[in-house]
Amino acid sequence: MRILIVNGPNLNLLGKREPSIYGSEGFDGFFEELQGNVSDAELEYYQSNVEGELVDKLQSAQVDGVLFNAAAYTHTSVALRDVIAAIETPVVEVHISNVLSREEFRHTSLIGGVCVGSISGFGLNSYRLGVTALVDYLNS
Ligand code: DQA
Repeated sequence: MRILIVNGPNLNLLGKREPSIYGSEGFDGFFEELQGNVSDAELEYYQSNVEGELVDKLQSAQVDGVLFNAAAYTHTSVALRDVIAAIETPVVEVHISNVLSREEFRHTSLIGGVCVGSISGFGLNSYRLGVTALVDYLNS
């Protein structure tokens, strides 16, 4: 089973960006560790700060499932919602912070309604939970 993790804008800065909200661990080290801990899925990773590149990646992904942290585009992007609706591949929405406990503009997710589920607020552990949920979903 192949799972693609996709991170949106500014998530390349994890570890340095607002550590009180997003923690002090970079994503690359976390991803390597996660790959080592997941035996029932092959994990791939993609990050872009560009909305259209995220659309292209989701359109062309040859995987069984996607874990997607659309970051700020979660709250603004009709194009990302539309591509998730257009593809057959199931997508799980992931957030590091608890978006519902933050500013009001973060309370709306344009993508949540076309994803199979959402995980938010557990730090980088949200991705670990997301992989487990997606593997279970794909096996069911
Ligand atoms: C985020 C939450 C978004 O509101 C924010 O714009 C991000 C990261 C999270 O993982 O908590 O960039 O998606």
